[in-house]
Formats: sequence, structure tokens, C-alpha cells
Amino acid sequence: MREIIFGIDLGTTNSSIACLKDGKAEALPIEAGQALVPSVVSLDEAANTIIVGRPARNRLAAFPNHTVRSIKRQMGQNTPVRLGAQQFSPEEISSFILKHLVFQASQVTGHQIKQVVITVPAYFNDAQRRATIQAGELAGLEVTRIVNEPTAAALVYDYLSFQQETSSPYIMVYDLGGGTFDVTILEVKGEIKEVLASCGDTALGGDDFDERLVDLFREQLSNKAPGVPWLDTAARIRLRDIAEKTKIGLSDQPFYQVSEAAVFSVARKPVNLHLEVKRREFEELVADLVERTAEKVRDALEEARLQPEDIGKILLVGGATRMPVVQDMLKEMFDRPICHSLDPDLCVALGAAAQGGLISGEPLGHILLDVNAHSLGIRTIDEIDPETGEGDWFSIIIRRNTRIPTRKAEVYFTLRKDQPAVNIEVYQGEAASCLENVPVGSFDFPLKPAPALSPVIVDFAYDKEGLIHITVDQKGYQNQKEVTLDIRQKKIINQEISPSAGKVVNYIIEKARNLLAEARLPGGLKNDLNRLVEAYEQALVGEEEGQDIDGLEDELLAAIEDAEERLIELG
Ligand SMILES: Nc1ncnc2c1ncn2[C@@H]1O[C@H](COP(=O)(O)OP(=O)(O)OP(=O)(O)O)[C@@H](O)[C@H]1O
Ligand SMILES: [Mg+2]
Repeated sequence: MREIIFGIDLGTTNSSIACLKDGKAEALPIEAGQALVPSVVSLDEAANTIIVGRPARNRLAAFPNHTVRSIKRQMGQNTPVRLGAQQFSPEEISSFILKHLVFQASQVTGHQIKQVVITVPAYFNDAQRRATIQAGELAGLEVTRIVNEPTAAALVYDYLSFQQETSSPYIMVYDLGGGTFDVTILEVKGEIKEVLASCGDTALGGDDFDERLVDLFREQLSNKAPGVPWLDTAARIRLRDIAEKTKIGLSDQPFYQVSEAAVFSVARKPVNLHLEVKRREFEELVADLVERTAEKVRDALEEARLQPEDIGKILLVGGATRMPVVQDMLKEMFDRPICHSLDPDLCVALGAAAQGGLISGEPLGHILLDVNAHSLGIRTIDEIDPETGEGDWFSIIIRRNTRIPTRKAEVYFTLRKDQPAVNIEVYQGEAASCLENVPVGSFDFPLKPAPALSPVIVDFAYDKEGLIHITVDQKGYQNQKEVTLDIRQKKIINQEISPSAGKVVNYIIEKARNLLAEARLPGGLKNDLNRLVEAYEQALVGEEEGQDIDGLEDELLAAIEDAEERLIELG
């Protein structure tokens, strides 16, 4: 049997291990079902054991002198790390992480793991690379190859089933992790990926975004307990955890409710933290951090002597690229949608596994992942057409290539005072105009009387069965509605194919079809219903010009109502 070469992303904040299974790269869920393992090591002096991962991270507050994080920053340096009374080299600390990953992975897969590919940042020098190999050897492993992180990420995208061909050979990898940021421009020549430029900041990452929220929380708490020296290590670590949770929450929702009891105590009385953070507000707090990454992107382009339009693909790597503010900045700079946003924190490990597969001569299939192939969103009135008074703006809620299941929410605003309702029209596609996208279904959401520009939150939860569970919430009015839409059987691969190529399933049609399957329904009603469904379906996919969709929809809804009433009469 061919030996499997495992791929390891030894990250500053998190590490992960992946392998190929039936030609597909798979990150292994090794710690409580999670593939990401915090790169934290702690020494339990009483038991004289080394603890790695989440349990070690949980000890940071209580045992700061026995616990170490971000060891990657010290690789290649001769500075010993003290854990309690013992000393370790950075390589030894890293080897503990590697041993933990490999041990857990062998438990999950049932394989003995000997050979590995380990990734390092493109900017790592010789000493840092050698130290990484040494860490592998200390863990009893054979390091088959050291691969640059951006190269590994690019490799994954090579094998993705939905990859888009571009004529440009230049790829930009934008990697914002927990503690470091780097941007790399690669030139692809067949199988070979050459690094043209690599810029970055080894002291900029998601943690800095958390710190901005910590400052915000501190301000709130100081008002409640002025002058209290409450910022001991435990409180600070607690606040940082709350900040990270808030930041992650804001990637998917426009508001985040922080509600934490007893962050610290004053005279034995607990002080609580309650506040709502708006995504907008957070984005303002971190605007300068995002701009610092933008500057590095400009530096890298200059170093590679390229213009933004020369770049064929932009790959997002690192968990912190899930923040919409980062994606928006790149979208603006490169004047195009940034669609590669899947599994940003695992794709380096997946790429390392793919590299391992290539070394051992494994045939690589597509790296199939459960992603939504089209963006999903709703119709909004961003720019009003002066002739019709209507708007036709496709506002995306879940971007294409997002791993499913997923859940995202956006906030919208009403137009008028006491607006009676909003119509939620769900579309699927990539065009800016809804008319060019595929309608999935629509429904009305009655509003309670409220001022103009009052917020309505639209929340999409998309599951693996192809159902979107939509929750609409008139914020502050205890007015909510939930609707489930079925978007299965879509066949559209990209915008070029006309919407008529796809079958539209919407909730009205589904309801009608269910009624048609009812044996008790009289033939006359069935015929009417059938005719209307067909006409409506054709109108939706735009097969005939000049169809009055709204009129047809009303007729169909009336027929559905008739049929339902009839069924009730029939018992
Ligand atoms: N949904 C999310 N929204 C915003 N930030 C997120 C999200 N998920 C994870 N992060 C952030 O991503 C960071 C960790 O990213 P990742 O695991 O890629 O880091 P890493 O590879 O270990 O770090 P580095 O690249 O510095 O070596 C953390 O700051 C975490 O809070
Ligand atoms: Mg990383």
C-alpha cells in the first residue's frame, strides 16, 4: 500500500492536519470535531505533562507562566521558552504541536503517520525553515517537503471543481491569519508556481482587530466601575475571548449582542457587560488596520511590477479574511467580486495534503467541497429607476463558494414612514441586476407602523439539503417572519448560461405541485392549477417576453387558495 503523506499547516494561531482520501483533500476533525487546533502549549507541572490545543488555550488565563502561544514567531531564534521551571527551544514547542496533530490524526484515520508536508510563510528565511524541519524530526516525523503557504493555497484552487479559468497567469494570495498578514503574488507556469513578490506584516492579524473591541469594552466597563484596577490577566483574556466572539459574529450579522455576566468583580459585586455592537461601528474601529493591509497589497503589486487588472485570481486565506470589511476593500481595489472565500483557514492544510499526494504519485481528483455554487440574495431598491419608480439591485447575502451549511444576515432599511410591508424577493446569481438572476421565491413581510429608514434584518440559513430558512425581523418591534425556500435542482454554472437552463423551484410552485399530487382534488381545479403553474414557471424563467409575472402569480395564488378550500370541504 502506498504511504499517505499528510499535510500540516503549522500556524501562529491555529494549526491543522489534512490528508487525501479517494483523491480528495480532507482536513481532519481531530479536536472535539474541529479541524483547527489552537497553536498553544501548556505544561502541567503537577502531572508533568504537556497539554496542546484548546485545553492549553483554556489554561492561558490561569497559568500564564506555564503556557505559550504564537511560538511560530520565534522559530529560527535561539531564545529558550520557559514553561514553569522547565525550558524548551521553539522547535521543541512546535514539535509538541506536531506530535499532538499527528497522534490525533492517526486516531481518526487509523493510519500510522510517518511522512508529512509542512507549510511555512513565503517570507520564512533559511533558519526558520530549518527550524520547522527540526520540529518535525523532534516529533518523530519525516518532513518530505516544506511548502510555502500561498503556494499550498493556490494548489487547492487548482483542483477545485468549480475553478474558473482566467487567461492571466498571476495569482494573488491575501492571507490574514490571527497574528500575521502576508500577501504573495505568484506566477503560474504549468505545474510550477513562482513567488514574484511577498510582502506582509508579522505583527498584524485578527488579534489586532479583537484588541479594538477590547478597547471599546474597556471604555464601557470603566464607566461602570471608574478607577478600578480590574484589568488583571484573567479579565483581559476573558475580554479578548468576548471580543473575538463578537468579531466573528459580525462577519455574518450586521449587529452583535454582547451579553456577558461577571466579567470582573468590584467589592465582590460582579460587573456585567451588555452592549450591542454594529458591524459599521466595528468597521470604523478597524479601518486603519484594513488600510495597512491595503498598503502591503500595493507594495506587492509594485514589487511584482503588476497592476491590479493583471491579477487573474485573488485567493483569500486565513480566518480573518471572513470579515466583510476585508473583502470589500479588495473588491474596491481590484474592481471585481472576490469570490474565492471558501475554507480560508483550512485551505493551506488542504494544499499541503494535495502536495503530499503529488509527491507520492496519488491521482488527484477534484477537491470537492460542499459549497453554494451561486450567490443568494434579495432584491433591493438601491438606485431607483426614475421611469418606473422601482429599483432592481441584487443585494447578496450569501456569496457563492461559501461552505454550507452557513448562516448570514444583512440589514436593510424601509423607504417610507409607516410602510405597510416589504416584499422579500430571493434571487440566485452573480449579476448586479435581479432581472439577470434567477428568482427563487418571494413573500411579503407585513410591517408594524415605524419611521422611515427603520431597520429590517434578513437572515439566511442555508442547509445541506438546499433549503434556505429565511428569518425577517423588524428590529425593535418584535415582528418576525420565517419562511423556508427550496432551491434544489438549479443547473446554472455561471452567468453566461441563461436562467432558463435552470429549473426554478419556489415556494408557490411547490405548494401547487403538492396540491396537484392530491388524489382528492377534482379534475377541473387540477387542470386550472396545472395550466397556471406552467405559465407561471415559464414566466419566471423568462422564456416568453412580456409576461405579467405578478398577475400570473396572483392568479396562481388564488387557484391554490381555491384548491386548499376545496380539500378542506372534502375533509
Ligand atoms: N468568521 C470569522 N470572522 C472574522 N475573523 C475570523 C473568523 N473566523 C476566524 N477568524 C479569525 O481568524 C484568525 C485565525 O486565522 P487562522 O486560523 O487562519 O490563523 P493562523 O494561520 O494560525 O495565523 P497566521 O496566519 O498568523 O499564522 C483569528 O484572529 C480568528 O479570530
Ligand atoms: Mg495561516
